[in-house]
Amino acid sequence: MAGGRARIMSSAFRAKLMSADDAAALVPHGANVGMSGFTGSGYPKAVPQALARRIEDAHGRGEPYRIGMWTGASTAPELDGALAKVNGIELRLPYQSDPITRERINSGTMDYIDIHLSHVAQHVWFGFLGHLDVAVVEVAAILPDGRLVPSTSIGNNKTWLDQADRIILEVNTAMNPAMQGMHDIYYGTRLPPHRTPIPILAPGDRIGETTFRCDPAKVIAVVETDAPDRDTSFAPPDTVSKAIAGHILEFLGHEVKRGRLPPELLPLQSGVGNVANAVMAGLEDGPFSGLTAYTEVLQDGMLDLIRSGRMVLASATALSLSAEAAGVFNRELEQLRDRIVLRPQEISNHPEVIRRLGVVAMNGMIEADIYGNVNSTHIRGTSIMNGIGGSGDFARNAYLSIFMTPSTAKQGSVSSIVPMATHVDHTEHDVQVVVTENGLADLRGLSPKQRARIIIANAAHPSFRPALTDYFERACLTSPGKHTPHLLDEALRLIRPV
Ligand code: COA
Repeated sequence: MAGGRARIMSSAFRAKLMSADDAAALVPHGANVGMSGFTGSGYPKAVPQALARRIEDAHGRGEPYRIGMWTGASTAPELDGALAKVNGIELRLPYQSDPITRERINSGTMDYIDIHLSHVAQHVWFGFLGHLDVAVVEVAAILPDGRLVPSTSIGNNKTWLDQADRIILEVNTAMNPAMQGMHDIYYGTRLPPHRTPIPILAPGDRIGETTFRCDPAKVIAVVETDAPDRDTSFAPPDTVSKAIAGHILEFLGHEVKRGRLPPELLPLQSGVGNVANAVMAGLEDGPFSGLTAYTEVLQDGMLDLIRSGRMVLASATALSLSAEAAGVFNRELEQLRDRIVLRPQEISNHPEVIRRLGVVAMNGMIEADIYGNVNSTHIRGTSIMNGIGGSGDFARNAYLSIFMTPSTAKQGSVSSIVPMATHVDHTEHDVQVVVTENGLADLRGLSPKQRARIIIANAAHPSFRPALTDYFERACLTSPGKHTPHLLDEALRLIRPV
């Protein structure tokens, strides 16, 4: 793999070259391992699979072998899927979206800690999560002086490289070396009480270094790979997501007319998934230009906005592009490089910066209750779907916090607007707008009872409106407290699985 050698420009690092199997043998049972990866991008492609094979062999011999796995966010089948399949993960954090991992968590064979994505790095630095033994980090190249050129996501890699005792690097020749310069790694974060302001005053401000620092003495293995990221493709916007996007665009236009948003809007944050992607696609045909983004993931729709010139700049922590969009990105990298900044997730999701910039946050949800409490993570109160991700970082600190979902799930049999949410990730205090394909509920300045009326009228599916209205009206009559009226016995009965 001559291409790989050329990417390892430091002889000290080249001396550590070995196979993925040999590198995996350096990860012992019980280790806490910090893996790179944020969505299906920038995750190690070979060592986790080699580790999964070792774990499977060990389990076959009746020997214990499981790790604690910390990542940036969700990864891909070669990482989460491979290790979950062999039951190799004792505890995982933070956000995940892998079906096998989800099944293990929900069946109780894997422990999961769901954390705000901006919190992960600082909780490691604070010592709240225990000791980090090994880092396994994908990079695009190793420079002659040992600095590392990041790959397609930054996530928590800076923290893993700084905090882990031992480091395994995967140098991936499939990563475009022309990405060098796109990243902004901030080394100025201090621990309380010595913290200083994060000096980002505009979404594109660069405040750090373009490469990672890495102590060569900690590097125990360097592995060559040559494999593309495996981000999922996006469904073309359907009528429901187009309707949701339409309501949001109309609302943003209204806010501009009322003077509450500038014509170029404020920096946008767009959540994960198809609906979020569809909103970005909708902006392409909308009246807004000069847009910016201060967000976590840069999906296909946002890349299109940048390419068309509608969006002048985007700050994120990961490129979450379909294979097709990744091809476009690589072909047009020279023109795109100055318009995209990739930062560590504790900076892309930093509450201080989100509040300062006045971000417009748009996130998906599982359900909202009639008072505007939002469940982003749990199905029927007890089973995890993915995790809170960065939604809390943005929703709590945004200028405007919008949550969106189709009004029903499971072929129309389940309402996404419920009397009482089965689990709450975002309280009514952090939710200003609830939107479904039926309409938009602007909750700003409303009391709980006013919110309930508008959520039922505007956002609920027509077939569920009578039952929700009936619940609310009876609650208003008989609830002991009239501030947030509930029929607690009934609400709890309603959420029991049928
Ligand atoms: N009741 C039961 N199931 C529901 C449901 C509800 N009210 N709402 C959704 N679901 C199910 C869907 O049926 C689907 O199940 P399936 O995979 O078996 O088909 C699944 O949940 C995902 O729903 P979908 O409509 O495809 O969601 P999505 O891709 O738009 O994602 C979230 C929605 C909430 C799961 C996703 O946005 C998420 O993980 N959010 C939390 C993290 C976040 O916001 N990150 C962004 C910060 S930058």
